[in-house]
Amino acid sequence: MRTKIVAGNWKMNKNAEQTEDLINELIDKLPTDTDVKVVIAPTFVNLASAVDHTEFTKIRVAAQNMHQAEGGAFTGEISADMLKSIGVNTVILGHSERRAYFHETDALIANKVETALKHEMTIIFCFGEELKDRSTNSHFNIVEGQLRDGIFNLPESAWSNIILAYEPVWAIGTGETASPEQAQEMHEFIRETVRKQYGSQVADDVSILYGGSVKPDNAKEIFSKPDVDGGLIGGAALNANDFVGIVNAM
Ligand code: PGA
Repeated sequence: MRTKIVAGNWKMNKNAEQTEDLINELIDKLPTDTDVKVVIAPTFVNLASAVDHTEFTKIRVAAQNMHQAEGGAFTGEISADMLKSIGVNTVILGHSERRAYFHETDALIANKVETALKHEMTIIFCFGEELKDRSTNSHFNIVEGQLRDGIFNLPESAWSNIILAYEPVWAIGTGETASPEQAQEMHEFIRETVRKQYGSQVADDVSILYGGSVKPDNAKEIFSKPDVDGGLIGGAALNANDFVGIVNAM
């Protein structure tokens, strides 16, 4: 049985007080009897307080990024050990904004994945094609390449710590969503690609999240697809009612 997951990527939003307020609202409004794993990823400076506030709840806290080195002279960066030391055991890696604005390559992301695994962290591994890839019909190749170069060097045993997040770049923060059929088509392709590389056990067990303008009113249809195991939510994760609506649609 695959785990159903709804994760909120808060990006560079919410100060300390707003983070606390949103968490309190989520604690109030999220169903307590759900089998959906709920993850929130506030910004670095608010992670420690988020961990404190969610301690006795089912909400889990993730970081949005981390550095690949164990430590040292990397001004402004955050290590896996620092995250673990405040109780953060999950990290989002390879988000398209990291790739586009901070020039993160597949090789760098693979390095980060390796470091996170050394620290026994769970990784939400993000990947997805740009609009130009889809218009030239190379989206499947691009996605396959991102998987191969980012995580296909991992041993099979590492896969219990991997969550995949397919996020077509053209659908992120644009209001444009992949249709449920487009999402399913790609998720199925991703699962089959994993199956070819690692076999059925890994392919059938890995959760594949969809990300890109998921909202309460389109979530149900996207989540109803057989290979969509949840969502990575940006904009709609910043509003408690919207995020809870999406969790309830799972
Ligand atoms: P969005 O962001 O929901 O605002 O499109 C998704 C993401 O970047 O993870």
